[in-house]
Amino acid sequence: MGNQLFARKPLALLLEEMRGEQRLRRVLGPVQLTSLGVGAIIGTGIFVLAGEAARDKAGPAVMLSFVVSGLACLFAALCYAEFASMVPVAGSAYTYAYATLGELFAWIIGWDLILEYAVSAAGIAHGASHYFQDLISIFNVHLPAVLTDAPFDYDPALGKLVATGKLLDLPAMVIVAMVTVILVIGIKESARFNTAMVILKVLIVLFVIVVGAFYINPANWKPFAPYGLTGINFFGKTLFGQADGGGQPLGMLAGAAVIFFAYIGFDSVSTHAEEAKHPQRDVPTGIIASLVICTVLYMGVGAVLTGMVPYHQLDINAPVSDAFRQVGLRWAQFLVAFGALAGITSVVLVTMLSQARILLAMARDGMLPPKFFAAIHERFRTPWKGTILTGIFVGALSAVLPLRILSGLVNIGTLFAFVIVCAAVLIMRRKYPDTERPFRVPLMPLTPILGIATCLLLMFSLPADNWYRLIIWLLIGFAIYFGYSRHHSVMKRYQAAAAIAEAEEVSQR
Ligand code: ALA
Repeated sequence: MGNQLFARKPLALLLEEMRGEQRLRRVLGPVQLTSLGVGAIIGTGIFVLAGEAARDKAGPAVMLSFVVSGLACLFAALCYAEFASMVPVAGSAYTYAYATLGELFAWIIGWDLILEYAVSAAGIAHGASHYFQDLISIFNVHLPAVLTDAPFDYDPALGKLVATGKLLDLPAMVIVAMVTVILVIGIKESARFNTAMVILKVLIVLFVIVVGAFYINPANWKPFAPYGLTGINFFGKTLFGQADGGGQPLGMLAGAAVIFFAYIGFDSVSTHAEEAKHPQRDVPTGIIASLVICTVLYMGVGAVLTGMVPYHQLDINAPVSDAFRQVGLRWAQFLVAFGALAGITSVVLVTMLSQARILLAMARDGMLPPKFFAAIHERFRTPWKGTILTGIFVGALSAVLPLRILSGLVNIGTLFAFVIVCAAVLIMRRKYPDTERPFRVPLMPLTPILGIATCLLLMFSLPADNWYRLIIWLLIGFAIYFGYSRHHSVMKRYQAAAAIAEAEEVSQR
């Protein structure tokens, strides 16, 4: 058994599988891959959580929060890029772990990635819902209040969970349902839809930066760091900086841990390796290019937002369009709300697409029931059953759980995956120095070590509850692995077949 837990899936087997029948079409080039990356990145994080990070955690120092989070992601992105070039098949960090660290680690990462994709899609859908509501409010149309948000939320002023008086977030659910239908219809159509959304979204972000810059009042940037420049706790005990009434960390780093959500998604480029025309070259390019583009844009938005409106007056639901309302530009509020709604919807799309692809990769390995998750639709050539199940899961979460809780869980899960990916690059270079690596992480071993350090720093800048939720999530994952996946994995059969062949050879001698 010990053997199986650490059994690595041979690269030759991975590549052989790529040539099998039930495969996806190779249609994506470097620009489309970068566009998928940008499509996965710019969304609820910048359009919604930037408000929470600035108002409740960091103040104008949120500009620095963007730098810290961006750096953590850059280190991790470089490590992802090396893996993507070594193992140019679909499945993201999950597949890389299977080919390098072995089955148990692969399962842990695959299970953890559900936090990064499916759970985050639910959080992102909340963002789309907030901007939808902001948009219709411009025309004085309002949904019944009970249908506008999750039934409970954390109140930083009171330091505890409180009832919101609402029932569910209906627009979030409807958006998820629409995206699910688009995804079932097909990747080519989805990629085209995504490209149009990405262009619109980038134009809106540039608009926010350029037009917003005229409305900056530098006095709003003072005090720059009202809650200090740190905000680190260890399972609820404050180590550096301040804490709110509920013991949750405050400060620039605490803001970085919230805003980290805004950067998630660049790695989803790697889940499209199977649809890439030249995966070894184009996937690393797509990962790094999309992250760099977004980092530059985020710095601008962070500065403009906190310059336009005093940080404590930022709106928590639709802060970017609301900033234009507060400076009296109603037409700009409309434009931004519309662009944000479309842009965020494209993130729900890419995120759910990536989730379905990871489930597909795991099912092909026997980690999940393949009849269900690896079933490709005859006409649409998409993993339709996994996509529909993902849609139901995401829709339900987005209806009843608040963004604050969803995003915290997503952030800690993703940071955890990044730590493993950075560590894996270190291990692989040492154990298999001669494997071909078309893309190599620069400044070894500094880059992955810095990646691990910054990601851990951000994990400890999140409220402690997130750690407990992550641990529970991983325990559920272990139960599934030892209850199902271990017994059904393709590697188990592969190893058994190899053992039989060896025994036969010995008996023939
Ligand atoms: N980075 C993605 C977003 O902000 C998850 O919506």
